[in-house]
Order: sequence, then structure tokens, then C-alpha cells
Amino acid sequence: MRSFTLPPTPTVAVVGLGYVGSCIAGTLADRGTRVVGVDTDPDLIAEFSAGRCRFQEEGLADLIAEQVASGKLRVSTDYSEVAAADVVLLTVGTPVNPDGSLADGQLRSACSELARYVRPGQLLVLKSTVPPGTTRHTVLPLLEESGLTGGEDFALAFTPERLAEGTALRDLRSLAIVVGGLDQHSAQITAGFWRAALDAEVIVLDTLEAAEIVKLADNWWIDLNIALANELARFCALYDVDVLDVIGAANTLPKGNGNVNILLPSIGVGGSCLTKDPWMVWHSARQRDLEIHTAPAGRRVNEAMPGYTAKLILDELAALGLDPAEAKIAVLGLAFKNNTGDLRATPTKGTVAALAKSGADVRIYDPLVDTDQAEALFGIRPTATLEEAVRDANCLAVLALHQELAGIDFGALPVARDCLVLDGRAYYSKEKIASLRQLGYRYRGVGR
Ligand SMILES: NC(=O)c1ccc[n+]([C@@H]2O[C@H](COP(=O)([O-])OP(=O)(O)OC[C@H]3O[C@@H](n4cnc5c(N)ncnc54)[C@H](O)[C@@H]3O)[C@@H](O)[C@H]2O)c1
Repeated sequence: MRSFTLPPTPTVAVVGLGYVGSCIAGTLADRGTRVVGVDTDPDLIAEFSAGRCRFQEEGLADLIAEQVASGKLRVSTDYSEVAAADVVLLTVGTPVNPDGSLADGQLRSACSELARYVRPGQLLVLKSTVPPGTTRHTVLPLLEESGLTGGEDFALAFTPERLAEGTALRDLRSLAIVVGGLDQHSAQITAGFWRAALDAEVIVLDTLEAAEIVKLADNWWIDLNIALANELARFCALYDVDVLDVIGAANTLPKGNGNVNILLPSIGVGGSCLTKDPWMVWHSARQRDLEIHTAPAGRRVNEAMPGYTAKLILDELAALGLDPAEAKIAVLGLAFKNNTGDLRATPTKGTVAALAKSGADVRIYDPLVDTDQAEALFGIRPTATLEEAVRDANCLAVLALHQELAGIDFGALPVARDCLVLDGRAYYSKEKIASLRQLGYRYRGVGR
């Protein structure tokens, strides 16, 4: 193994300037690193160059605009830019096919391009979420088409990206960074890079595969834990028990390194990661003749929640003697996560579709989402105002509680009598529920 060191202030290329890549590129530039971001999407690069940012993440648009203006962050569609960088971070998209296998087109084409420009002394780090073995068996051979040898001429490592949408920029500065290297030198040089660049705690694991599995384990756990919360909610509903009371009390039990930690139930799980990574686990295991049961079980439970939520609404309206065809339902909050405008794999889609199928008059409203995008996804144009959505409504289905929706004055809304408030992810307090009832509303939550 040939050993080399990075310069004291290494320059960085981020390949794939999507949601994750732009958060990383902006953060590194803000901390003083010279960064070039490369993406194949010319519109995205033009937007960044003009100081605009299509990703809704608190602080990201300003961060990118500032760093581009300062010149510390440059953006380009030209791959040859990576040749000058000391460190190349690979953050392209890694969706899965319907059978759970990796749709590796972005990754393969990025690596093939990189092979044209990789040079001795460079460190290449894959950050995209991938099945175990991908860095070693897909990325490495493609990079070695350059004629250079991984571990000899260039260092190669895998570092999972574990940031969460909504807290991404904070996460990047606070989460421990996991590193797996092709060899010891690759791991060491990568750990040193992250410590210096982000002042982060670094956890070095023995292999590339161990680091790849860490990311999958995190998302497998989160999705499965939410599935537990969702089934617990449905279980509690059988006994007229408030699931939040149960979770609060259950979570006081010390276990392992902390307490039992059941997450919150909701109308379901969305976003691009939790909906695919468990399938990546399941498919990878199958390729090696291991049948994993928990990952698909979690997925199925969570995928059933939008339909369950719609049924909750329709059952409550039926109890009021309302035929769905006569019902007006206002869905407030469409994004998959509170305080974002992100519609990727949003579970609200399934709820809205089931409600619309019942014949109800469904209006949708979300102050944070792009109106055209929402119309394309839901087949219903969102109303411009809250008032328009809720006029004469028999149900207000609060499916995402953005700050703008948290302050709603329910007493002032022009809704129908006995209007139902369906709490899909607002987690209203008992006091709030009592005050809603005093105002004449009925209340139902997932497991409440
Ligand atoms: N979104 C999240 O919250 C999140 C969190 C943690 C990890 N991840 C993982 O990070 C990775 C990136 O996710 P994302 O949400 O940023 O995806 P994304 O789709 O937003 O971004 C991918 C970017 O890569 C670009 N691209 C595609 N092919 C390319 C190529 N050959 N060369 C250069 N650029 C190319 C695309 O144009 C796009 O801008 C995925 O593996 C994902 O699973 C995502």
C-alpha cells in the first residue's frame, strides 16, 4: 500500500448536488473549505449559480447563496472540475427498483465519469445509501477503470449520510460520522478529513460494509419503530386508550443504553429514505439467501396507515350520519414532514386518494408546498387560502402541522356543525382537544 496524506486544507468536490450534496457542499464551504459542486442537471446548476435553491431546508438557500457569492462554493456541470480536488464526495441518488434492488444508474454513471479524472493522492468517499458491498464491488472497479488502484493510488471510503430533513444543517455539524475504509490508510485519511472539516466525532469501523450497514440499520430501526407506534396506536384505539399516554409511560423504562423509545404514530412514513432503505435491506439479504422479515413488516404497516387514516375519517363521518358523497373534507398539510414543503413519497397522498374515491368533496391546503407540484401529485389544486379549504367543512384533517397551521384559530373557521378534527400528526394536547370540543368540534387522532 502506498501511503499519502491530504494537504492541510484539502479542496473538496461534491458530486451530486441534490438535497444531501447541497447541504454538505454549503456546510463545508461555510466552514472554510473550498468546494466545487458537480451535477449533471444544468437547470440545478443554473439555479445555484443565480443564488437560488430549490430544496426546502431551513437555512440552506441563504447558505448556498452566501457561499456561491463568496466564491468558496463553485458549481458546475463539468466533471473535469473534480480532477483538482483533494477529496471527492459522492452524493448521487440511489433509489431502489420495484423489487428492492438498487437502481444504480446514477452511481454507475458518476463513477464512470470520475474514472476519467481520478488522480493519485485523491480520497474518494461514497456518501449515498447503498446495499452492503456496493463500494467494494461496484464503485471500486468502476474507479479502477482509470488504470489506478484503490488503496494504492487513491483512498476509498464509505461514510453514511445520516442527516434528517428539517434539521439537516444542524445534523451535519453535530452527528457523529461513521467511516469504513477500503483499507486502514483509507479509513484513517477519511477520519482525519472529517475531523478537520466538520470538527466531528468520528467512528471508524473495520470495513466498508460495516459502515454501509450502519446507515441501513438506522433507517430500518426508525421505520420499524414507527410501525410499532402505528400498530400500538391501532391497538390502543380498540380500548379507547390514548396512545400518547401509553407511549409516554412506556418510554420511562430503562433498557440497554437508554430507555424504551417508542416513536410517534402518524398517518404514515414518507420521504425518500425510510420508504426505500428497508427494502434495500430485504433485497440484499435475499441475494444471500437470508429472508429478513422485520424490514418488510415495518414497511407494510406504515404503508397501510394512509388508508387507515381515511377510514378513520369516513367512519367518524358515518357515525354522524354523513354519506361520504355529501361530506366536505379539508386536508390541511400535505408534506410528508411538519414544517417542510416536501412532497416526496408523502403518505398524505394515499389518504387524499382514498377520501376522494369515497366521493367526498376534498379540498387540500398547505402553505409550504408548491401549488403546481401538489396539483400534479394529488389531482386536486390546493386552495390559495385556509378559509377556502375549510368553508362548510365536515372534517378538518390535519395531516402535517406546519407552524403556520399550529396557530389556527379554530373558533373563527367557517366550518359546518359538528366538524371533525382528524389529528394525523399534530399530537394536540389534552387541553387543546378539550378546547376544540368546547368549540363544538369532534376530535379523533391516530390511536387517540
Ligand atoms: N434526502 C435525505 O434526507 C437523505 C438523507 C440521508 C441520506 N440520503 C441519501 O443520500 C443520497 C442522495 O440523496 P438526495 O436526497 O440528495 O438525492 P437527490 O435526488 O436530491 O440528488 C441526487 C443528485 O445527483 C445528481 N446526479 C445524478 N446522476 C449524476 C451523475 N452521474 N453525476 C453527477 N450528478 C448526478 C442529480 O441531478 C441530483 O441533483 C441518496 O443515496 C439518499 O438515499 C438522503
